[in-house]
Amino acid sequence: MNKNLYRIAAIPGDGIGPEVTEVAMNVFEKISKKHNIRYEITEFPQGGEHYYKTGEVISDKTMAALKEHDIIYLGAVGSPKVKPGIIEKGLLLGLRFGFDQYINLRPVKLYPGVETPLKDKTEEDIDYIVVRENTGGLYTGIGGFTMKGTAHEVAVNSMVYNYKQVSRCLRYAFELAQTRPRKTLALVGKTNVLTYAFDLWDRAFNEIGDKEFPDVNREYYHVDAACMHMVNQPERFDVLVTSNMFGDILTDLAAMTQGGMGMGASGNLNPDKSAPSMFEPLHGSAPDIAGQNKSNPLAAVMSLKMMLEFMDQNEAAEELDRAICKVTPMNLNKMSTDQIEKAILKHL
Ligand code: NAD
Ligand code: IPM
Ligand code: MN
Repeated sequence: MNKNLYRIAAIPGDGIGPEVTEVAMNVFEKISKKHNIRYEITEFPQGGEHYYKTGEVISDKTMAALKEHDIIYLGAVGSPKVKPGIIEKGLLLGLRFGFDQYINLRPVKLYPGVETPLKDKTEEDIDYIVVRENTGGLYTGIGGFTMKGTAHEVAVNSMVYNYKQVSRCLRYAFELAQTRPRKTLALVGKTNVLTYAFDLWDRAFNEIGDKEFPDVNREYYHVDAACMHMVNQPERFDVLVTSNMFGDILTDLAAMTQGGMGMGASGNLNPDKSAPSMFEPLHGSAPDIAGQNKSNPLAAVMSLKMMLEFMDQNEAAEELDRAICKVTPMNLNKMSTDQIEKAILKHL
């Protein structure tokens, strides 16, 4: 990463993706000017609409071009015109796997003044981070059909994990937990049913914890119980580490506890920096509200904040966070995309 000139690739994508990306990029422009951050942006058209028009999901040539960048910023992809799975697996997972973005970091934080559906819970209670494994599990695409279309049809999607995937994800999560005051890492799994994959997770968790991170408190939750606590007692969580699929599901639930889908940020990190990392809001392309100036762009702006942190532009990230904190007490549900954008820009 060249700190004198960051090379950023933007993939606005589909539906509300381009709307929220535009807001994030306008905010990026303003904050970069103030902090003398120099960058160039290349926009890429990939997404469901692009596939519908051209037949390209993501070509080797596009992957090679993206790899020349330090960072990818993605809005959201997925179009009702395209069969589910083609873009999600081909493009989004193609990028996460292809660039070995093995950590999907999803902070869960109730911002000042935001209404949460959790009764009597405050900013102090909802403040944890989900470390979602991002290259394995049920997402690898290993599986298939046999006797398709007959009464005997078998359909398989396998939960696949190897020691390397599990251990590198756990180490990242332990290191993150070490930086936080409570130094507590909880593994979320399903050791009572998925007795192979989560046995591996559980053994690696305890071995690595004992040997390398004796200062970090360890907890374990079955995923169903974790859901219960996320609603009932979110204050018990500090850092959670979990598999790809569980992390996906838990973080939509978590986003709702922090005020809605428009409040959940995420970073797909390649901590080794062997390929670009990618920042994106955790929501999808929301075709139901696309083009109506209704989407909440804050998840996209919070993902930009994570991007600035990844760029080691901590002062800019902090300033952006202060601006977000000024905007969140406003009546977000009644505000248009544009109005939220204006409010953020005003506070920078
Ligand atoms: P979604 O996240 O797009 O939408 C779920 C609900 O949340 C919708 O009612 C939507 O209007 C609302 N919502 C989402 N983002 C919002 C925002 N910023 N402001 C206000 N409301 C918001 O999930 P979905 O409907 O299940 O999926 C739609 C498409 O997006 C599918 O093609 C799916 O595969 C894809 N998807 C893509 C990503 C991604 O690009 N990272 C993530 C999730 C889903
Ligand atoms: C997310 C999305 C993706 C996922 C889909 C669109 C592949 O839901 O980023 O949370 O499941 O990871
Ligand atoms: Mn998801």
